[in-house]
Amino acid sequence: MAEVIIVRDQTEAGSVAASIFAQQISTNPCTVLGLATGSTPLSTYAALAATVAEDAIDVSGVRGFALDEYLGVPPQHPESYRSVITREVVEPLGLNPDYVFTPRGTGPGITQAGAEYEDMIAEAGGIDIQILGIGSNGHVGFNEPGSSLASTTRIKALAEQTRKDNARFFDSPDEVPTHCITQGLGTILKARQLVLLAFGANKAQAVAAALEGPVSSAVPGSVIQQHPRATVIIDESAAAGLAHAEYYRHAWRSAQILNAVSF
Ligand code: GLP
Repeated sequence: MAEVIIVRDQTEAGSVAASIFAQQISTNPCTVLGLATGSTPLSTYAALAATVAEDAIDVSGVRGFALDEYLGVPPQHPESYRSVITREVVEPLGLNPDYVFTPRGTGPGITQAGAEYEDMIAEAGGIDIQILGIGSNGHVGFNEPGSSLASTTRIKALAEQTRKDNARFFDSPDEVPTHCITQGLGTILKARQLVLLAFGANKAQAVAAALEGPVSSAVPGSVIQQHPRATVIIDESAAAGLAHAEYYRHAWRSAQILNAVSF
């Protein structure tokens, strides 16, 4: 079971998550990060950028692989995930852009792009730590309900709910792409550590189903239950549907006390 940390707000979540990432980068300066887009990871990226600015960690050797990309959206489009990752992660953290990759969403031989991306991740030695958000329908990356638990990077159709949720990033709902290329659930499970964040009441149902429901392709986020090293950081609103919230609070308090005490 994942370690579940219930925090006050996104700022606190960002600082808890950033400290996990900073610890990983301090241990291995050539860490391979798994990067997510969307609103959820922004407070983590901001807190990590502040840590870098204090010269507390060296990110010159850090590499990164984005979870997903829209199909048919050129990399230079402001809402391509390549642009988003550049704007929200590469520039603020000062990562080397040549070390950060997104799946290819355009160009010839696009049906091979998923296999190419899997090869690139493998050549980098695999992802050390993956940050994840969760869609209101339970998707992770762009693995919509029904995705195989063993899936690898491939082209997928977006669910209408996801297109509606992401319409805020485009001038009109019709402009939201219909397809994407996304790391699979099997790819995500191969990352050595997962950190999933979720905020707000519209994520409560997906969070409860992912953490406490059956592991099922109907709720792609439920794969987190199969990962041996996963941390879930959520605010009170996103935790509202959890049956065992009191236990998670107790377990997190105990873990902090144990960390502070030497026997
Ligand atoms: C997006 C991304 C996911 C993200 C999710 C939630 O469409 N493909 O990686 O986690 O949907 O987005 P948000 O964080 O904006 O709520």
